[in-house]
Amino acid sequence: MPGYFVVESPKIENFDDKISKNPQIKKLIQDIPVLLSNEIKEEALKVVHTVLQEARTGKIIDKTKIKEIVNKLVEEIISKHQNSLINLMDIRTHDKYTFSHSINVCTLAILIGIKEKLKRKELGDLALGALLHDVGKIMISQQILEKPARLSMDEFEEIKKHPLYGYNILMEGEEISEISKMIVYNHHERYDGGGYPQGLTGDKIPQLVVITSLTDVYDVLTTDRPYRKSLLPHDAMRIIISHTYSNFSEEAVRFFLKVMSIYPLGSLVKLNTGEIGLIIKVNEHALVRPTIRILLDSQGEIVSPSRIQDIDLSADISRFVVNSVSDDVFAGK
Ligand SMILES: [Fe+2]
Repeated sequence: MPGYFVVESPKIENFDDKISKNPQIKKLIQDIPVLLSNEIKEEALKVVHTVLQEARTGKIIDKTKIKEIVNKLVEEIISKHQNSLINLMDIRTHDKYTFSHSINVCTLAILIGIKEKLKRKELGDLALGALLHDVGKIMISQQILEKPARLSMDEFEEIKKHPLYGYNILMEGEEISEISKMIVYNHHERYDGGGYPQGLTGDKIPQLVVITSLTDVYDVLTTDRPYRKSLLPHDAMRIIISHTYSNFSEEAVRFFLKVMSIYPLGSLVKLNTGEIGLIIKVNEHALVRPTIRILLDSQGEIVSPSRIQDIDLSADISRFVVNSVSDDVFAGK
């Protein structure tokens, strides 16, 4: 992503092997409830696919279908978000980039909107805008979108048109709320005015647009792209924090951090003791000190199921998180 300086956490040697060869530990992680069922993810993927096809062939997109799936997504997330054990690492779908990116951004945006105590109608508008935020990219050539190198000035100028293209696509046919359209049109605006297409600043950028922008950046950074490997959530979060005041207000970044945590639920971390564990609870009063289920002891040996213990790092100050650990093996990458 242009303008984002990337620093990666190290991978732990032989870690994936150890975990993947231990079915009990894999099961332990897979048993953590997920935010979205596979059925609804697949349904959403299908709808986004159809909508993009329609837009690509110049048809008016079927907004009734979009509203239906958006409502399902909102209802499902409302019903599940209070479970403190939800695996936030697993919200992400790994399908064709454009489709899965839309759904990941939409899911995260709904989650943040719920925590921001948005009304039900606003949640629906946010979700719809977030789901279709990049719909205008269907007007940009695939060659530019998938270019595995830095874009030329002209190519970047072309990319910068996708918010307007998207806005125009939503203008046709059945009515869509103004704020959903604004999300599509303004999701690349930035706090200091350095964004596009209008160069809006500060609170001229609506709150629901900012939520979508943050989740968009987060998902782009944590996804493999033709020009770089995906980052761990912890590293993506560090990059977002480093763009406070330039890309996002301090208030927006703080809130995002509070909802997502530096170490999301279901992610794996290494402690100063050498132990490796799974984040099972985020402590809102101490975001860098979550509660962890220890899976590998300090010698790198797997902890037997009968001896597995949960440690609240906000109470046990002798231990702290050193870094995140890749969980590729669970994502099936
Ligand atoms: Fe975009």
